[in-house]
Amino acid sequence: MKILIIGKGGREHAMLEACKKSKLVDKIYVLPGNCMMEGATRVDIDMYDIEQITDFALKEKIDLTLVGPADVLALGIKDEFNKHDLRLFGPTKSATRIESSRYFTKQLMEKLKIPTTEYVVFTDRELALKFVSGIEKFPVTIKIDSIPKNMGIFIARSNKMAIDIVNEIFDENENSKILVEEYIIGKEFSIFALVKNSKVYPLQIVKDYKRTSDTDEAEHTGGMGACSPVAKITDIEIEQVVEKILKPMAKSMYEDGYGFEGFLYGEIVVTKDGIKVLSFNARLGDPEAEVLLPRLESDFVQNILDVMEDREPEIKWNDDVCIGVVLASNGYPSKEKCQDKINLVPVESDIYFMGVEEKNNEIYAKGGRNLIVTAMAEDFEKARELAYADVEKLRSDSFFYREDIGKF
Ligand code: GLY
Repeated sequence: MKILIIGKGGREHAMLEACKKSKLVDKIYVLPGNCMMEGATRVDIDMYDIEQITDFALKEKIDLTLVGPADVLALGIKDEFNKHDLRLFGPTKSATRIESSRYFTKQLMEKLKIPTTEYVVFTDRELALKFVSGIEKFPVTIKIDSIPKNMGIFIARSNKMAIDIVNEIFDENENSKILVEEYIIGKEFSIFALVKNSKVYPLQIVKDYKRTSDTDEAEHTGGMGACSPVAKITDIEIEQVVEKILKPMAKSMYEDGYGFEGFLYGEIVVTKDGIKVLSFNARLGDPEAEVLLPRLESDFVQNILDVMEDREPEIKWNDDVCIGVVLASNGYPSKEKCQDKINLVPVESDIYFMGVEEKNNEIYAKGGRNLIVTAMAEDFEKARELAYADVEKLRSDSFFYREDIGKF
């Protein structure tokens, strides 16, 4: 089979490694991929140019396409591929709304009585400012409805901060829609599943370390590390999420005519008042995929094809723990970022490259999340020891990382 993977970061690198292990696969293309993705042919096409990608997939007779970034799905690549009978495991443009509109998903959760955070939605700056000026209990979370590259999630700890955030969002785009949400705390985890219509096949759970550090003031990022499985989450809690959250959501999307097919993932918090959903996403997470897929022992491509072709997939997992530590450029995510050379010394761990480029036969950071060092072992302590030993070898003064990945 010929596989096409769309995207260029660590998640797509982990997807590539999983596809390379498949006995069904003969050739893999990455579009655009990055310079450290070995064993695949890079395709020099803009990943948002759906027409050119479709032409490429037709010309090369691609058997299966996998998409990393949600914004490519949100453009309707699946709809276009469907027109040409090209097989792509991912949702249509309308089904991707489960991720691309936070308000849409909140309404769906309300309809299905899926527990989620309290929120108020605003499209008018003055009304939003009036509301946040009157808030008495902080913190609150302010989210942009659509999902911009910086994730569009801000934590306000005072009326002044909330006012500034609202103004910044509306200054950037006067037509913004925002959600002002209750801030919740508890045990956090993400759960992934392969979905086709109302059929839901759960994968494993993952914890994403979302901020630059574990302090309250730390900025939200795309994720500074991850581990799978997640300590202190019980099988009963996982079953509750699958039965009461993922399955009703998939069924409702199907019955409403959206027909979701692809990776579905929910971000969950177990609060003192019970389980609540923070969000749904229509893809694999990054860096979640980098610790999830190395634990998969069954054939990734076979599992996906089984779901697409209405067979029961036989999904098998390694019981080991996988942890991944991201090395990001100083200043990420908001300030000036360094783009220094990466000192690629030999290490024991697997490295998935997130943002790198080659110049004069050297590998340079692109200035955001650069790479993730992942290690597997029988427990968290051992996996941390292995991963952090290699982080020490790869680190430099230009990069930073969190020291608490895999600690609970
Ligand atoms: N790590 C969060 C995400 O992929 O959305």
